[in-house]
Amino acid sequence: MALRGAVYVNGTISKAADAVVPVYDHGFLYGEGIYETLRTYNRVPFLYERHMSRLRASAKHLHLDVPVDNDTMMASIDKTVAAAGDLKEAYIRVLVTRGVGELTYDVTATPVSSLIIIVKPADEPSGRITDNGIEISLVSILRNHPGSVNPIIKSNNLLNNALAMQEAHRRGGEEALMCNYRGELSECSQSNFFMVRNGVALTPKSAAGLLEGVTRAFLFDVGRDVGVEVRDETLYPKDLETAEEVFITSTTRELSPVVRIDGKTVGTGKPGPITKKLLDGYRARAVEMTRAVSSAS
Ligand code: PDD
Repeated sequence: MALRGAVYVNGTISKAADAVVPVYDHGFLYGEGIYETLRTYNRVPFLYERHMSRLRASAKHLHLDVPVDNDTMMASIDKTVAAAGDLKEAYIRVLVTRGVGELTYDVTATPVSSLIIIVKPADEPSGRITDNGIEISLVSILRNHPGSVNPIIKSNNLLNNALAMQEAHRRGGEEALMCNYRGELSECSQSNFFMVRNGVALTPKSAAGLLEGVTRAFLFDVGRDVGVEVRDETLYPKDLETAEEVFITSTTRELSPVVRIDGKTVGTGKPGPITKKLLDGYRARAVEMTRAVSSAS
């Protein structure tokens, strides 16, 4: 399929198919870089400040400089969105890499980080997913040990996640759920994990070693609004047997109901009432919060 949208690379905006980064960029050579994925509602990037805070936190772990402030970043995002043409809502991926330099891990060889912004149409989660739910797989690949590439870093170094997802695909899953090195549930390859037990939405604690999703954090607020308790807890694979409902969260997937794990039915086999209540609450808040910004500008 033709690549859609536009890409900003260090000040130059091109069509997606024409965008290039230099081979000597250490983001390409060593996977040294970080990123954020955002999407718009009402054409306004949702939870922008939270995403930028996490981008800067990720950069700090790599001793990497984010070369612009949030306002300058937003101006470049706006320009790239405009160049992408007529988008209903936008998918926005911001990447910062170590930059161009000699073949060495010595960071003094790469004094200037690269900034890349990918913009394309946001594909709304399909009705098939929200109405029927998806199947996921509990895979054998472990989530990275926090003493290795810490999962709290939203890193461009995604080989572990890609391998986990490949295993899930081979087994018919649309997402890969991973355990940590202690055998606890941690998160999925591109999303956070939740299960409902006794009407409470439970998600693994940050200490399990996971990316602290912006959607995951926001869901604690949504839960308070819609009257659903959302709590973090240490969870194990055996807990999946007692799950009344399961869902995953991310910026692009919002809340996706999970109705089967490795062929085993979760709850009634249909998206459950707690998942629906949280998803409706999430969407309503996203639309309401961005409408306020959109009409003010
Ligand atoms: N993925 N965990 C992992 C490993 C992720 O890659 C993501 C997001 C999440 C959810 O984070 P958030 O709610 O902030 O989107 C959890 C994005 C969507 C991506 O890889 O493009």
